[in-house]
Amino acid sequence: MKKSFLVVIAVVCVAAGLMLIASAWAQMPSAPLKDQDYTQPEPYTATNFGPWNAAVAKTHVPEIKFEKMGMGVKVTVQIDNHPMDPKKPHYIMWIRLEDMTGKKLGEKTFKATDPGPAIAVFELPDTPDKVKAFERCNIHGIWLNEAAVELK
Ligand SMILES: [Fe+2]
Repeated sequence: MKKSFLVVIAVVCVAAGLMLIASAWAQMPSAPLKDQDYTQPEPYTATNFGPWNAAVAKTHVPEIKFEKMGMGVKVTVQIDNHPMDPKKPHYIMWIRLEDMTGKKLGEKTFKATDPGPAIAVFELPDTPDKVKAFERCNIHGIWLNEAAVELK
């Protein structure tokens, strides 16, 4: 009786130890994903923000401004009110501009140590009817905004 009680205690202790090891293993940081390894079914938008909420969307959806530039257009894409925080880190990794066919018109990459807000200026020799602006936050994923080109 006493021996079987000790066996039970030993089994419980071994099981508890294995659970602690498994828990510590699960909490170990894994290698950070490279940008090209990141997949997201579709970019988030102001109205379709996936697992996030409207407040997160407000600080991630790119703002797009247009300015006439000769025969072309200067497009400024900006993400206001988003941190560029190297300590966490939490920052905008890149901003990309595409036409409506998905052709890349330009891209700017950022480091966490870059000052905020993240701004990218693209000078286009031609003026498309409409553009798509994407940005990638290292925590909150890829966000999209579209805008028709309006020149004042
Ligand atoms: Fe973010």
